[in-house]
Amino acid sequence: LAGLRIARELGEESLLTPVLSRYWDEPESWTLATYLRHAGYQALRTALDTDPDQIIATVKDSGLRGRGGAGFPTGTKWSFIPQGDERPHYLVVNADESEPGTCKDMPLMLATPHALIEGAIIAAYAIRARHAFIYLRGEVVPVLRRLQAAVAEAYQAGYLGRDILGSGYDLELVVHAGAGAYICGEETALLDSLEGRRGQPRLRPPFPAVAGLYASPTVVNNVESIASVPPIIRGGVDWFRSMGPVESPGFTLYSLSGHVTTPGQYEAPLGITLRELLGYAGGVRAGHTLKFWTPGGSSTPILTGEHLDVPLDYEHVAGAGSMLGTKALQIFDETTCVVRTVLRWSEFYAHESCGKCTPCREGTYWLVQILERLERGDGSEQDLEKLLDISDNIFGRAFCALGDGAVSPITSSLKYFRDEYLAHFESGCPFDPHESILAPP
Ligand code: NAI
Repeated sequence: LAGLRIARELGEESLLTPVLSRYWDEPESWTLATYLRHAGYQALRTALDTDPDQIIATVKDSGLRGRGGAGFPTGTKWSFIPQGDERPHYLVVNADESEPGTCKDMPLMLATPHALIEGAIIAAYAIRARHAFIYLRGEVVPVLRRLQAAVAEAYQAGYLGRDILGSGYDLELVVHAGAGAYICGEETALLDSLEGRRGQPRLRPPFPAVAGLYASPTVVNNVESIASVPPIIRGGVDWFRSMGPVESPGFTLYSLSGHVTTPGQYEAPLGITLRELLGYAGGVRAGHTLKFWTPGGSSTPILTGEHLDVPLDYEHVAGAGSMLGTKALQIFDETTCVVRTVLRWSEFYAHESCGKCTPCREGTYWLVQILERLERGDGSEQDLEKLLDISDNIFGRAFCALGDGAVSPITSSLKYFRDEYLAHFESGCPFDPHESILAPP
Protein backbone atom coordinates (compact mmCIF):
# COMPACT_ATOMS: atom_id res chain seq x y z
CA LEU A 1 0.00 0.00 0.00
CA ALA A 2 3.05 2.25 0.18
CA GLY A 3 2.53 3.54 -3.36
CA LEU A 4 -1.13 4.35 -2.71
CA ARG A 5 -0.34 6.21 0.52
CA ILE A 6 2.40 8.24 -1.17
CA ALA A 7 0.16 9.02 -4.17
CA ARG A 8 -2.54 10.29 -1.78
CA GLU A 9 -0.10 12.41 0.24
CA LEU A 10 1.38 14.05 -2.84
CA GLY A 11 -1.88 14.42 -4.77
CA GLU A 12 -1.44 16.34 -8.02
CA GLU A 13 2.29 16.62 -7.41
CA SER A 14 2.72 12.92 -7.88
CA LEU A 15 3.34 11.00 -11.10
CA LEU A 16 1.66 8.00 -9.48
CA THR A 17 -1.79 7.16 -10.85
CA PRO A 18 -3.70 4.79 -8.59
CA VAL A 19 -6.49 3.33 -10.69
CA LEU A 20 -6.36 -0.39 -10.01
CA SER A 21 -5.06 0.20 -6.48
CA ARG A 22 -7.30 3.22 -5.83
CA TYR A 23 -9.03 1.85 -2.73
CA TRP A 24 -6.90 -1.09 -1.70
CA ASP A 25 -6.65 0.40 1.80
CA GLU A 26 -10.39 0.70 2.40
CA PRO A 27 -11.85 -1.60 5.03
CA GLU A 28 -13.31 -4.69 3.35
CA SER A 29 -12.19 -3.43 -0.06
CA TRP A 30 -12.86 -6.93 -1.40
CA THR A 31 -16.60 -7.04 -0.87
CA LEU A 32 -19.21 -6.45 -3.53
CA ALA A 33 -20.69 -3.60 -1.47
CA THR A 34 -17.37 -1.70 -1.53
CA TYR A 35 -16.88 -2.40 -5.22
CA LEU A 36 -20.34 -1.06 -6.02
CA ARG A 37 -19.54 2.12 -4.08
CA HIS A 38 -16.62 2.63 -6.47
CA ALA A 39 -18.61 2.37 -9.71
CA GLY A 40 -18.22 -1.40 -9.69
CA TYR A 41 -20.03 -3.32 -12.46
CA GLN A 42 -20.98 -0.08 -14.26
CA ALA A 43 -18.59 -0.94 -17.07
CA LEU A 44 -20.28 -4.33 -17.34
CA ARG A 45 -23.68 -2.68 -17.76
CA THR A 46 -22.23 -0.49 -20.52
CA ALA A 47 -20.52 -3.47 -22.15
CA LEU A 48 -23.65 -5.62 -22.18
CA ASP A 49 -25.41 -2.82 -24.07
CA THR A 50 -22.61 -2.72 -26.65
CA ASP A 51 -21.83 -4.99 -29.57
CA PRO A 52 -19.02 -7.42 -28.61
CA ASP A 53 -16.96 -6.40 -31.65
CA GLN A 54 -17.18 -2.78 -30.53
CA ILE A 55 -15.72 -3.73 -27.15
CA ILE A 56 -12.84 -5.50 -28.87
CA ALA A 57 -12.32 -2.38 -31.00
CA THR A 58 -12.29 -0.16 -27.87
CA VAL A 59 -9.71 -2.34 -26.12
CA LYS A 60 -7.66 -2.41 -29.33
CA ASP A 61 -7.85 1.38 -29.67
CA SER A 62 -6.88 1.86 -26.04
CA GLY A 63 -3.51 0.27 -26.82
CA LEU A 64 -3.67 -1.88 -23.67
CA ARG A 65 -0.76 -4.33 -23.76
CA GLY A 66 -0.66 -7.60 -21.84
CA ARG A 67 0.58 -7.07 -18.29
CA GLY A 68 1.75 -10.66 -17.80
CA GLY A 69 5.19 -9.89 -19.19
CA ALA A 70 5.18 -10.13 -22.97
CA GLY A 71 3.19 -6.93 -23.64
CA PHE A 72 1.17 -8.39 -26.52
CA PRO A 73 -1.74 -6.04 -27.45
CA THR A 74 -4.81 -7.31 -25.59
CA GLY A 75 -7.47 -6.19 -28.08
CA THR A 76 -5.52 -7.72 -30.96
CA LYS A 77 -5.37 -11.02 -29.10
CA TRP A 78 -9.15 -10.93 -28.61
CA SER A 79 -9.66 -10.20 -32.30
CA PHE A 80 -7.80 -13.42 -33.23
CA ILE A 81 -10.68 -15.53 -31.89
CA PRO A 82 -12.26 -16.96 -35.04
CA GLN A 83 -15.95 -16.15 -35.16
CA GLY A 84 -18.61 -18.31 -36.68
CA ASP A 85 -17.13 -21.78 -36.24
CA GLU A 86 -18.82 -24.49 -34.17
CA ARG A 87 -16.34 -24.70 -31.33
CA PRO A 88 -16.97 -22.99 -27.98
CA HIS A 89 -14.74 -20.09 -26.99
CA TYR A 90 -12.99 -19.84 -23.64
CA LEU A 91 -11.48 -17.10 -21.54
CA VAL A 92 -8.69 -18.15 -19.20
CA VAL A 93 -7.25 -15.67 -16.72
CA ASN A 94 -3.64 -16.46 -15.95
CA ALA A 95 -3.38 -15.90 -12.18
CA ASP A 96 -0.41 -18.20 -11.75
CA GLU A 97 1.90 -15.29 -10.91
CA SER A 98 5.27 -16.88 -10.19
CA GLU A 99 8.03 -14.79 -11.72
CA PRO A 100 10.61 -14.05 -8.99
CA GLY A 101 9.99 -10.56 -7.64
CA THR A 102 6.52 -10.33 -9.18
CA CYS A 103 3.83 -9.70 -6.60
CA LYS A 104 1.18 -7.48 -8.20
CA ASP A 105 -1.63 -9.85 -9.23
CA MET A 106 -1.93 -11.46 -5.80
CA PRO A 107 -2.50 -8.16 -3.93
CA LEU A 108 -4.88 -7.06 -6.68
CA MET A 109 -6.98 -10.22 -6.27
CA LEU A 110 -6.87 -9.99 -2.48
CA ALA A 111 -7.84 -6.32 -2.37
CA THR A 112 -10.30 -6.08 -5.26
CA PRO A 113 -11.33 -9.49 -6.61
CA HIS A 114 -14.44 -7.97 -8.20
CA ALA A 115 -12.26 -5.80 -10.46
CA LEU A 116 -10.92 -9.02 -11.97
CA ILE A 117 -14.33 -10.66 -12.11
CA GLU A 118 -15.94 -7.68 -13.84
CA GLY A 119 -13.07 -7.54 -16.35
CA ALA A 120 -13.39 -11.28 -16.97
CA ILE A 121 -17.13 -11.02 -17.68
CA ILE A 122 -16.56 -8.15 -20.14
CA ALA A 123 -13.70 -9.98 -21.86
CA ALA A 124 -15.70 -13.22 -22.09
CA TYR A 125 -18.69 -11.33 -23.51
CA ALA A 126 -16.44 -9.61 -26.07
CA ILE A 127 -14.96 -12.86 -27.36
CA ARG A 128 -18.34 -14.64 -27.14
CA ALA A 129 -17.28 -17.15 -24.50
CA ARG A 130 -19.74 -18.81 -22.15
CA HIS A 131 -17.13 -20.38 -19.91
CA ALA A 132 -14.28 -18.59 -18.20
CA PHE A 133 -11.60 -19.85 -15.83
CA ILE A 134 -9.27 -18.16 -13.37
CA TYR A 135 -6.19 -20.36 -13.02
CA LEU A 136 -4.58 -19.52 -9.70
CA ARG A 137 -1.41 -20.69 -7.98
CA GLY A 138 -2.46 -23.39 -5.57
CA GLU A 139 -0.30 -22.21 -2.67
CA VAL A 140 -2.02 -18.88 -2.26
CA VAL A 141 -4.94 -20.19 -0.25
CA PRO A 142 -6.07 -16.77 1.10
CA VAL A 143 -6.36 -15.48 -2.48
CA LEU A 144 -8.23 -18.61 -3.52
CA ARG A 145 -10.75 -18.17 -0.70
CA ARG A 146 -11.20 -14.51 -1.47
CA LEU A 147 -11.77 -15.15 -5.17
CA GLN A 148 -14.20 -17.97 -4.47
CA ALA A 149 -16.17 -15.77 -2.07
CA ALA A 150 -16.26 -12.91 -4.59
CA VAL A 151 -17.37 -15.21 -7.43
CA ALA A 152 -20.17 -16.52 -5.19
CA GLU A 153 -21.23 -12.92 -4.45
CA ALA A 154 -21.21 -12.13 -8.17
CA TYR A 155 -23.39 -15.16 -8.96
CA GLN A 156 -25.82 -14.19 -6.22
CA ALA A 157 -26.09 -10.62 -7.50
CA GLY A 158 -26.77 -11.76 -11.07
CA TYR A 159 -23.42 -10.70 -12.58
CA LEU A 160 -22.62 -14.34 -13.40
CA GLY A 161 -24.70 -17.31 -14.47
CA ARG A 162 -27.79 -17.23 -16.68
CA ASP A 163 -29.09 -14.08 -18.37
CA ILE A 164 -26.63 -11.66 -16.77
CA LEU A 165 -28.42 -8.43 -15.77
CA GLY A 166 -31.28 -9.40 -18.09
CA SER A 167 -29.05 -9.17 -21.16
CA GLY A 168 -29.56 -12.73 -22.36
CA TYR A 169 -25.84 -13.39 -21.98
CA ASP A 170 -24.80 -16.46 -19.90
CA LEU A 171 -21.38 -17.02 -18.34
CA GLU A 172 -19.98 -19.62 -15.95
CA LEU A 173 -16.79 -18.59 -14.15
CA VAL A 174 -14.66 -21.23 -12.43
CA VAL A 175 -11.75 -20.54 -10.09
CA HIS A 176 -9.22 -23.34 -10.50
CA ALA A 177 -6.25 -23.80 -8.16
CA GLY A 178 -3.11 -25.25 -9.72
CA ALA A 179 -0.59 -27.21 -7.70
CA GLY A 180 2.14 -24.57 -7.70
CA ALA A 181 4.53 -24.97 -10.62
CA TYR A 182 6.27 -22.05 -12.32
CA ILE A 183 5.82 -23.70 -15.72
CA CYS A 184 2.04 -23.62 -15.32
CA GLY A 185 2.22 -19.84 -15.78
CA GLU A 186 3.31 -20.54 -19.37
CA GLU A 187 -0.01 -20.28 -21.14
CA THR A 188 -0.03 -23.63 -22.94
CA ALA A 189 1.28 -25.56 -19.91
CA LEU A 190 -1.48 -23.83 -17.96
CA LEU A 191 -4.05 -25.11 -20.45
CA ASP A 192 -2.70 -28.68 -20.16
CA SER A 193 -2.88 -28.40 -16.38
CA LEU A 194 -6.42 -27.02 -16.55
CA GLU A 195 -7.41 -29.99 -18.71
CA GLY A 196 -6.15 -32.28 -15.95
CA ARG A 197 -2.81 -33.21 -17.45
CA ARG A 198 0.74 -32.61 -16.24
CA GLY A 199 1.53 -28.97 -17.03
CA GLN A 200 4.01 -28.90 -19.89
CA PRO A 201 4.15 -26.38 -22.73
CA ARG A 202 2.66 -27.14 -26.11
CA LEU A 203 4.16 -26.24 -29.42
CA ARG A 204 3.01 -22.82 -30.70
CA PRO A 205 1.59 -22.22 -33.28
CA PRO A 206 -1.20 -22.98 -33.06
CA PHE A 207 -1.59 -20.21 -30.50
CA PRO A 208 -4.37 -20.63 -27.93
CA ALA A 209 -6.48 -18.10 -29.82
CA VAL A 210 -6.82 -20.72 -32.56
CA ALA A 211 -6.60 -23.98 -30.58
CA GLY A 212 -6.37 -23.58 -26.81
CA LEU A 213 -8.44 -25.14 -24.04
CA TYR A 214 -9.97 -28.42 -25.28
CA ALA A 215 -8.56 -27.48 -28.71
CA SER A 216 -10.99 -24.57 -28.92
CA PRO A 217 -10.33 -20.86 -29.45
CA THR A 218 -9.10 -19.47 -26.12
CA VAL A 219 -7.94 -16.11 -24.89
CA VAL A 220 -5.37 -16.34 -22.10
CA ASN A 221 -4.86 -13.00 -20.35
CA ASN A 222 -3.02 -11.93 -17.23
CA VAL A 223 -4.95 -10.75 -14.12
CA GLU A 224 -3.78 -7.13 -14.35
CA SER A 225 -4.66 -6.95 -18.08
CA ILE A 226 -8.21 -8.14 -17.41
CA ALA A 227 -8.66 -5.89 -14.35
CA SER A 228 -7.61 -2.93 -16.52
CA VAL A 229 -10.57 -3.43 -18.87
CA PRO A 230 -13.42 -2.01 -16.70
CA PRO A 231 -11.58 1.31 -16.13
CA ILE A 232 -10.97 1.56 -19.89
CA ILE A 233 -14.67 1.01 -20.63
CA ARG A 234 -15.64 3.55 -17.95
CA GLY A 235 -12.96 6.16 -18.62
CA GLY A 236 -12.65 5.77 -22.38
CA VAL A 237 -9.79 5.36 -24.80
CA ASP A 238 -8.60 8.98 -24.68
CA TRP A 239 -8.37 8.97 -20.89
CA PHE A 240 -6.36 5.71 -20.93
CA ARG A 241 -4.11 7.01 -23.68
CA SER A 242 -3.51 10.26 -21.79
CA MET A 243 -1.14 8.20 -19.61
CA GLY A 244 2.14 6.70 -20.78
CA PRO A 245 3.81 6.72 -24.18
CA VAL A 246 1.95 6.21 -27.46
CA GLU A 247 3.20 2.65 -27.98
CA SER A 248 2.65 1.56 -24.35
CA PRO A 249 -0.22 3.61 -22.96
CA GLY A 250 -1.92 3.47 -19.60
CA PHE A 251 -1.27 2.85 -15.94
CA THR A 252 0.37 -0.24 -14.52
CA LEU A 253 1.58 -1.79 -11.28
CA TYR A 254 5.30 -1.76 -10.53
CA SER A 255 6.48 -4.08 -7.74
CA LEU A 256 9.49 -2.63 -5.92
CA SER A 257 11.35 -5.09 -3.72
CA GLY A 258 14.75 -5.79 -2.23
CA HIS A 259 17.14 -3.11 -1.00
CA VAL A 260 14.65 -0.28 -1.22
CA THR A 261 13.47 1.87 1.71
CA THR A 262 9.74 1.42 1.11
CA PRO A 263 9.01 -1.68 -0.94
CA GLY A 264 5.53 -2.23 -2.36
CA GLN A 265 3.24 -1.75 -5.33
CA TYR A 266 3.52 1.60 -7.11
CA GLU A 267 0.91 2.29 -9.76
CA ALA A 268 2.09 4.73 -12.40
CA PRO A 269 1.98 5.23 -16.15
CA LEU A 270 4.23 3.15 -18.34
CA GLY A 271 7.28 5.19 -19.21
CA ILE A 272 8.07 6.34 -15.66
CA THR A 273 11.71 5.75 -14.74
CA LEU A 274 13.25 3.76 -11.90
CA ARG A 275 14.83 6.99 -10.64
CA GLU A 276 11.37 8.52 -10.31
CA LEU A 277 9.90 5.43 -8.66
CA LEU A 278 12.81 5.23 -6.23
CA GLY A 279 12.13 8.87 -5.38
CA TYR A 280 8.68 7.83 -4.12
CA ALA A 281 9.95 4.67 -2.47
CA GLY A 282 12.54 6.51 -0.34
CA GLY A 283 15.49 5.39 -2.48
CA VAL A 284 17.88 2.52 -1.98
CA ARG A 285 18.11 1.55 1.73
CA ALA A 286 19.91 4.14 3.83
CA GLY A 287 23.66 4.27 3.51
CA HIS A 288 23.80 2.11 0.42
CA THR A 289 23.99 2.51 -3.34
CA LEU A 290 22.29 0.78 -6.24
CA LYS A 291 24.32 -2.00 -7.82
CA PHE A 292 21.91 -3.74 -10.19
CA TRP A 293 18.19 -4.29 -10.72
CA THR A 294 15.71 -6.26 -12.76
CA PRO A 295 13.06 -4.44 -14.79
CA GLY A 296 10.68 -7.41 -14.89
CA GLY A 297 11.71 -10.21 -12.59
CA SER A 298 14.68 -12.52 -12.88
CA SER A 299 13.78 -13.60 -16.43
CA THR A 300 14.69 -10.16 -17.75
CA PRO A 301 18.36 -9.18 -18.18
CA ILE A 302 19.66 -7.17 -15.22
CA LEU A 303 20.38 -3.47 -15.56
CA THR A 304 22.59 -1.15 -13.50
CA GLY A 305 22.77 2.41 -12.17
CA GLU A 306 23.46 3.70 -15.68
CA HIS A 307 19.88 2.71 -16.59
CA LEU A 308 18.08 4.68 -13.89
CA ASP A 309 16.60 7.09 -16.43
CA VAL A 310 15.38 4.52 -18.93
CA PRO A 311 11.61 4.98 -19.38
CA LEU A 312 9.93 1.82 -18.16
CA ASP A 313 8.02 0.88 -21.26
CA TYR A 314 8.47 -2.02 -23.67
CA GLU A 315 10.43 -0.15 -26.33
CA HIS A 316 12.87 1.76 -24.11
CA VAL A 317 13.70 -1.16 -21.84
CA ALA A 318 14.33 -3.31 -24.93
CA GLY A 319 16.57 -0.52 -26.24
CA ALA A 320 18.57 -0.74 -23.02
CA GLY A 321 19.14 -4.45 -23.66
CA SER A 322 16.50 -5.91 -21.38
CA MET A 323 12.72 -6.46 -21.25
CA LEU A 324 9.99 -4.75 -19.28
CA GLY A 325 8.48 -8.13 -18.39
CA THR A 326 6.29 -8.13 -15.30
CA LYS A 327 7.60 -4.77 -14.01
CA ALA A 328 9.05 -6.50 -10.96
CA LEU A 329 11.77 -4.06 -9.99
CA GLN A 330 14.10 -5.98 -7.71
CA ILE A 331 16.70 -3.65 -6.26
CA PHE A 332 20.14 -4.89 -5.20
CA ASP A 333 22.68 -2.67 -3.43
CA GLU A 334 26.48 -2.86 -3.34
CA THR A 335 26.48 -5.49 -0.58
CA THR A 336 25.03 -8.08 -2.97
CA CYS A 337 27.20 -10.66 -4.68
CA VAL A 338 26.01 -10.86 -8.26
CA VAL A 339 27.35 -14.42 -8.68
CA ARG A 340 25.43 -15.61 -5.63
CA THR A 341 22.25 -13.90 -6.84
CA VAL A 342 22.53 -15.44 -10.28
CA LEU A 343 23.22 -18.84 -8.70
CA ARG A 344 20.03 -18.53 -6.62
CA TRP A 345 17.97 -17.66 -9.70
CA SER A 346 19.56 -20.49 -11.69
CA GLU A 347 18.69 -22.97 -8.94
CA PHE A 348 15.11 -21.76 -9.24
CA TYR A 349 15.01 -22.32 -13.01
CA ALA A 350 16.67 -25.74 -12.76
CA HIS A 351 14.12 -26.75 -10.13
CA GLU A 352 11.18 -25.40 -12.15
CA SER A 353 12.27 -26.70 -15.56
CA CYS A 354 9.51 -29.09 -16.63
CA GLY A 355 11.98 -31.41 -18.31
CA LYS A 356 10.20 -31.56 -21.64
CA CYS A 357 13.05 -30.20 -23.74
CA THR A 358 16.72 -31.09 -23.50
CA PRO A 359 18.31 -27.61 -23.67
CA CYS A 360 16.36 -26.39 -20.65
CA ARG A 361 16.33 -29.64 -18.63
CA GLU A 362 20.04 -30.40 -19.03
CA GLY A 363 21.27 -26.85 -19.54
CA THR A 364 19.83 -25.34 -16.36
CA TYR A 365 21.34 -28.25 -14.38
CA TRP A 366 24.80 -27.56 -15.84
CA LEU A 367 24.48 -23.83 -15.26
CA VAL A 368 23.90 -24.46 -11.56
CA GLN A 369 26.90 -26.80 -11.32
CA ILE A 370 29.21 -24.19 -12.83
CA LEU A 371 27.82 -21.28 -10.83
CA GLU A 372 28.19 -23.25 -7.58
CA ARG A 373 31.82 -23.92 -8.47
CA LEU A 374 32.41 -20.25 -9.28
CA GLU A 375 30.73 -19.03 -6.10
CA ARG A 376 32.85 -21.44 -3.98
CA GLY A 377 36.01 -20.08 -5.58
CA ASP A 378 36.83 -23.27 -7.51
CA GLY A 379 36.06 -21.86 -10.95
CA SER A 380 38.24 -20.77 -13.83
CA GLU A 381 37.98 -18.48 -16.84
CA GLN A 382 37.11 -21.54 -18.87
CA ASP A 383 33.97 -21.87 -16.74
CA LEU A 384 32.87 -18.39 -17.77
CA GLU A 385 33.16 -19.42 -21.40
CA LYS A 386 31.22 -22.60 -20.60
CA LEU A 387 28.47 -20.53 -18.96
CA LEU A 388 28.15 -18.44 -22.10
CA ASP A 389 28.32 -21.49 -24.37
CA ILE A 390 25.57 -23.33 -22.47
CA SER A 391 23.48 -20.14 -22.35
CA ASP A 392 23.89 -19.81 -26.10
CA ASN A 393 22.65 -23.38 -26.52
CA ILE A 394 19.56 -22.71 -24.40
CA PHE A 395 18.56 -19.26 -25.67
CA GLY A 396 16.08 -19.53 -28.51
CA ARG A 397 16.38 -23.32 -28.52
CA ALA A 398 14.19 -24.24 -25.55
CA PHE A 399 10.57 -25.23 -25.99
CA CYS A 400 9.21 -22.20 -24.14
CA ALA A 401 10.30 -18.90 -22.61
CA LEU A 402 11.57 -20.54 -19.39
CA GLY A 403 14.90 -21.35 -21.04
CA ASP A 404 15.43 -17.81 -22.33
CA GLY A 405 14.52 -16.46 -18.90
CA ALA A 406 16.99 -18.77 -17.19
CA VAL A 407 19.97 -17.47 -19.16
CA SER A 408 19.04 -13.78 -19.03
CA PRO A 409 20.60 -13.10 -15.61
CA ILE A 410 23.73 -15.06 -16.54
CA THR A 411 24.58 -13.36 -19.80
CA SER A 412 23.65 -9.90 -18.51
CA SER A 413 25.60 -10.26 -15.26
CA LEU A 414 28.67 -11.38 -17.20
CA LYS A 415 28.27 -8.33 -19.41
CA TYR A 416 28.26 -5.89 -16.49
CA PHE A 417 30.13 -7.73 -13.72
CA ARG A 418 32.70 -10.02 -15.33
CA ASP A 419 35.33 -8.66 -12.93
CA GLU A 420 33.26 -9.81 -10.00
CA TYR A 421 33.16 -13.34 -11.39
CA LEU A 422 36.95 -13.16 -11.81
CA ALA A 423 37.37 -11.91 -8.22
CA HIS A 424 35.85 -15.20 -7.01
CA PHE A 425 38.74 -17.23 -8.48
CA GLU A 426 41.21 -16.09 -5.82
CA SER A 427 39.54 -17.17 -2.59
CA GLY A 428 35.84 -17.51 -3.13
CA CYS A 429 33.11 -14.97 -2.65
CA PRO A 430 34.45 -11.59 -1.47
CA PHE A 431 31.06 -10.57 -0.04
CA ASP A 432 29.66 -11.07 3.43
CA PRO A 433 26.21 -12.56 2.74
CA HIS A 434 24.89 -11.21 6.07
CA GLU A 435 25.35 -7.62 4.95
CA SER A 436 22.84 -7.96 2.14
CA ILE A 437 20.16 -9.62 4.28
CA LEU A 438 17.35 -7.24 5.10
CA ALA A 439 16.18 -6.82 8.67
CA PRO A 440 12.61 -8.02 9.16
CA PRO A 441 10.12 -5.14 8.81
P1 NAI B 1 4.83 -14.45 -26.28
O1 NAI B 1 5.35 -13.14 -26.73
O2 NAI B 1 5.21 -15.67 -27.04
O3 NAI B 1 3.21 -14.42 -26.30
C1 NAI B 1 2.50 -13.41 -25.63
C2 NAI B 1 1.02 -13.64 -25.86
O4 NAI B 1 0.67 -13.26 -27.19
C3 NAI B 1 0.54 -15.06 -25.71
O5 NAI B 1 -0.72 -15.06 -25.11
C4 NAI B 1 0.45 -15.59 -27.12
O6 NAI B 1 -0.52 -16.60 -27.27
C5 NAI B 1 0.06 -14.34 -27.86
N1 NAI B 1 0.58 -14.37 -29.24
C6 NAI B 1 1.83 -14.08 -29.63
N2 NAI B 1 1.94 -14.19 -30.97
C7 NAI B 1 0.71 -14.58 -31.43
C8 NAI B 1 0.19 -14.86 -32.71
N3 NAI B 1 0.95 -14.79 -33.80
N4 NAI B 1 -1.10 -15.24 -32.80
C9 NAI B 1 -1.87 -15.33 -31.70
N5 NAI B 1 -1.43 -15.05 -30.45
C10 NAI B 1 -0.15 -14.68 -30.32
O7 NAI B 1 5.22 -14.59 -24.75
P2 NAI B 1 4.98 -15.78 -23.72
O8 NAI B 1 5.94 -16.89 -23.97
O9 NAI B 1 3.52 -16.13 -23.66
O10 NAI B 1 5.35 -15.08 -22.34
C11 NAI B 1 6.66 -14.70 -22.07
C12 NAI B 1 6.64 -13.61 -21.03
O11 NAI B 1 6.08 -14.12 -19.84
C13 NAI B 1 8.00 -13.08 -20.67
O12 NAI B 1 8.13 -11.83 -21.27
C14 NAI B 1 7.99 -12.96 -19.15
O13 NAI B 1 8.18 -11.64 -18.74
C15 NAI B 1 6.61 -13.39 -18.77
N6 NAI B 1 6.57 -14.21 -17.57
C16 NAI B 1 5.66 -13.85 -16.63
C17 NAI B 1 5.52 -14.56 -15.46
C18 NAI B 1 4.56 -14.12 -14.41
O14 NAI B 1 4.59 -14.64 -13.28
N7 NAI B 1 3.67 -13.17 -14.71
C19 NAI B 1 6.35 -15.78 -15.22
C20 NAI B 1 7.28 -16.04 -16.27
C21 NAI B 1 7.38 -15.28 -17.41
